[in-house]
Amino acid sequence: MRIALAGKGGSGKTTISATMARMFARRGYTTNALDDDPNPNLASALGLTSDMIERLKRVPREDILEERVDDEGHASLHMIRPFDQVITDYGVIGPDGVQTLTMTGLIGAGKG
Ligand SMILES: Nc1ncnc2c1ncn2[C@@H]1O[C@H](COP(=O)(O)OP(=O)(O)OP(=O)(O)O)[C@@H](O)[C@H]1O
Ligand SMILES: [Mg+2]
Repeated sequence: MRIALAGKGGSGKTTISATMARMFARRGYTTNALDDDPNPNLASALGLTSDMIERLKRVPREDILEERVDDEGHASLHMIRPFDQVITDYGVIGPDGVQTLTMTGLIGAGKG
């Protein structure tokens, strides 16, 4: 099951996401929590320590996704690495075993 939360600023998206992630993990479900906010703070809401948060690395799209175009010209995105490997390389396992990833944050300095 995949759940995505979006909506009005300050309405409680991060708090509810983190609480649900920990509840599912405690009940024995494999749980991945993915922060896609440009100002990411899901990790701290999940209760990760500052050391764990520092280990989180933004996942570069080109490292995990590939665009494929079918015979009719329709493009779609596909994972090119096993998800477990993405968690190992970029993520952190937080309290209750929640596997945490962040999709935003600076990769490096650049123009614009
Ligand atoms: N059910 C609730 N009752 C009271 N306060 C809450 C509740 N849920 C969240 N809050 C508080 O509301 C504030 C905003 O919550 P949160 O950061 O989860 O919202 P958000 O939608 O993720 O915000 P943003 O749009 O900035 O990412 C926080 O201070 C949080 O502690
Ligand atoms: Mg938020």
